[in-house]
Amino acid sequence: MTRKPSVTDQKPKSVAVVTGAAGDIGIAIARHLAPTHHVAAVDIDAGALEAVAAELKADGFEATALTCDLTAPIEISRMATEAKTLGPVKLLVNNAGAAATLTLHGMTPDSLAKDLALNLEAALNTFKALEAPLTASGDGCLINIASVNGLETFGHPAYSAAKAGLIHATRAIAVEYGKYGLRANAVAPGTVKTRAWKDRAAANPGVFDEALGWYPLKQLPEPHDIAATVAFLAGPAARCITGICLPVDSGLTAGSTALPRTFTQSPDFDG
Ligand SMILES: NC(=O)c1ccc[n+]([C@@H]2O[C@H](COP(=O)([O-])OP(=O)(O)OC[C@H]3O[C@@H](n4cnc5c(N)ncnc54)[C@H](O)[C@@H]3O)[C@@H](O)[C@H]2O)c1
Repeated sequence: MTRKPSVTDQKPKSVAVVTGAAGDIGIAIARHLAPTHHVAAVDIDAGALEAVAAELKADGFEATALTCDLTAPIEISRMATEAKTLGPVKLLVNNAGAAATLTLHGMTPDSLAKDLALNLEAALNTFKALEAPLTASGDGCLINIASVNGLETFGHPAYSAAKAGLIHATRAIAVEYGKYGLRANAVAPGTVKTRAWKDRAAANPGVFDEALGWYPLKQLPEPHDIAATVAFLAGPAARCITGICLPVDSGLTAGSTALPRTFTQSPDFDG
């Protein structure tokens, strides 16, 4: 006679560590991954993070809030130890990030250090802290949230240099760790209306409308567009995809119509 599986027979869900999970893109990523993972939500903002975890749990998902300043390696190490107690960590989404330096002329040693610490070093240190479980499972997955700023020049130079470094590191990890079945990919969002834009939108209320002119699709990506791409890259449909940087940018990095219009004088490039 076959016995019904009991709760104790069930394997623990694999754990997805999502950093910056209290931010707008991070929340969307956590929501997309929650049906298939225990989400270890990581952020420096303890109050907002608890609210995200509570909301996921209220919806019947498994979620744990792990407060951590990702610019402090000792805190990353503590966070990773806690994450590993939740189950097998098979997915890491390095999403925490922010831009400090506006221009190279205005850059200071402090603003440079801040941009590099959060946008590059934190991601690499978090990967290293979770390297053992990510390589142990044979199907581990790393997704780094980069930016179109890591691919082209749109201001915020130190943040952009860090994101370019993150894209390179993604390829390096894909190459060195492929033998463990670990896939490493980056996602490069274009302009996404999130709280990260609060100051810039206050300084220039037309910032999103003006930006739209540069986007071939005439629409800006939203947090769920980034999250859906992360879910795709983390899933079995992407099993042969590693080492790439996938822009989710409504065509921004494909180019703009301004120069073709100048060269050809054709109205086909208008509008
Ligand atoms: N919004 C955009 O236009 C855009 C475009 C390209 C790339 N990105 C990238 O997407 C990611 C998410 O950005 P967002 O727009 O959702 O920003 P957000 O400000 O809404 O979220 C960022 C989160 O990171 C957390 N964080 C900041 N410093 C931290 C630290 N030291 N330790 C732990 N957590 C910390 C913040 O508390 C916040 O919850 C970032 O990596 C960003 O660079 C955003």
